[in-house]
Amino acid sequence: MQKKSLFTGSLHLTAAAALTLCASLAHAQDVQTVRIAHAGPTSGGIAHIGKDTENGVRMAIDDLNAQGPVIGGKRIKFELAAEDDAGEPRQATAVAQKLCDSKVAGVVGHLQSGTTIPASSIYNKCGLPHITAAATNPDVTKRGFNTTYRLIANDNALGAALAYFAHDALKIKTVAVIDDRTAYGQGLADVFKATAEQKGIQVLAMEYTNDKATDFTAILTAIKAKKPDAIFYGGLDAQAGPMLRQMEQLGLANVKYFGGDAMCTEKLVELSSKAGTVKNVTCATGGASVQKMQGGAEWKKKYDARFPGQFQIYSPYAYDATFVLVDAMKRANSVDPQVYVPFIGKTQFKGITANIAFTPKGELTAPAVTLYTYKDNVRAALN
Ligand code: ALA
Repeated sequence: MQKKSLFTGSLHLTAAAALTLCASLAHAQDVQTVRIAHAGPTSGGIAHIGKDTENGVRMAIDDLNAQGPVIGGKRIKFELAAEDDAGEPRQATAVAQKLCDSKVAGVVGHLQSGTTIPASSIYNKCGLPHITAAATNPDVTKRGFNTTYRLIANDNALGAALAYFAHDALKIKTVAVIDDRTAYGQGLADVFKATAEQKGIQVLAMEYTNDKATDFTAILTAIKAKKPDAIFYGGLDAQAGPMLRQMEQLGLANVKYFGGDAMCTEKLVELSSKAGTVKNVTCATGGASVQKMQGGAEWKKKYDARFPGQFQIYSPYAYDATFVLVDAMKRANSVDPQVYVPFIGKTQFKGITANIAFTPKGELTAPAVTLYTYKDNVRAALN
């Protein structure tokens, strides 16, 4: 009696376990996990900018999963593959190779031009598409890879807009130019210098630093002797912040200060230790301000609730970049890069940042530029 009941009991258990097993097997077959990578500096001096960008991808993946996407007849669950390139070109190429080998479906990245340019060659070789939400050197897209796309304006637009504003609006006559010798800083400084000279601004000095430096006293002292109306800096906020502080200390409190997107962050004020010189800054970013984006205010509210105090610049662009990759997968009905890459070039996507469409080289067809300054220690758009 006891034996029979035991047998019956174990039979029931076996049947139940089998049912569960079948269900989970069916589930595993129906739901395909697809990894999308973010690659950028989430350690080092500009980790705050890298994390903001990664947050954008994270938020996009959650919003996409909430839509219950089905591609190629399968229910898809997107997952983030987060990679840190530390802002170093060599680490970026190692990350790119790893992402090729591990067969992620697409990449949002990298953040800097100096990392994006070498990484893009590796992505192109393995056929993996990547969209940068932040790298602005024109060379990123120059080779016309069908695996490389950019969601913001490039440095030709940023450098020229800054030079025009310096001349036309602020009546700057003389400037000293400093760059950090990176692909981004040097490229942007060259564009600014060329346009400024065309407009009749005199470039009194060219000075150089690097993207790890924190002491600019020698450079600034040499510049002070030449009495320029303004300083242009091609580089990151991690250097621009301390430089602004040292300008104040050296008595350059009334010298205007220009720079590109990578110093145009919310954190610049803190990095300058709230130097009074921050109010002299004009910086340019390659897109609309979040306040001017359609649905931008609502998007930012959601971002701030999830990542309090972390917004810098590029997260809306990284968010859209993730959607653009998935939009191409949906139109191709495949998550296989070999199949869906040709669909990225034909994108017509209404994103948070803009209506997104690409030129044959992978640039936006109609990129915007926004100039910012800092009022009462808060970043404020000028247009
Ligand atoms: N726009 C910056 C760069 O290209 C972040 O490096």
